[in-house]
Amino acid sequence: MADDPLEAAAWAVRERAHAPYSRFRVGAALEAEDGRVFTGCNVENASYGLTLCAERSAVAQAVSAGARRFTRIVIVAEADPPVTPCGACRQVLFEFAPDLRVVGVGPSGRRQWTLHELLPGGFRL
Ligand code: THU
Repeated sequence: MADDPLEAAAWAVRERAHAPYSRFRVGAALEAEDGRVFTGCNVENASYGLTLCAERSAVAQAVSAGARRFTRIVIVAEADPPVTPCGACRQVLFEFAPDLRVVGVGPSGRRQWTLHELLPGGFRL
């Protein structure tokens, strides 16, 4: 939906992705319960395993700004079918928002899940 402000924010931040190794640019926009929106892009590294996904980048932005309760995340990429968060990002999102709505958007459309569907039995202490 072009009129979804979260989707627009995610496409905008995707422009800033640092993805010289995979060339796969991702943007994410995370909506806090208080209405604020935090964004993140993927940040790759020459030491490939240090790559930070767009979703975790957005979580770091949000938590650094004092937001910890989230309602929805929109993730965008030029992927068909639309991108889903990796396992590590699912667990990081679960820490703050087990009931999160997750939306993946690509050229072919959008897909939606709950985080519970994507990560049944997430780890908690
Ligand atoms: N990536 C994300 O940022 N989010 C996802 O949901 C899937 C994968 C990034 C990591 C890496 O920079 C590139 O996409 C290829 O895996």
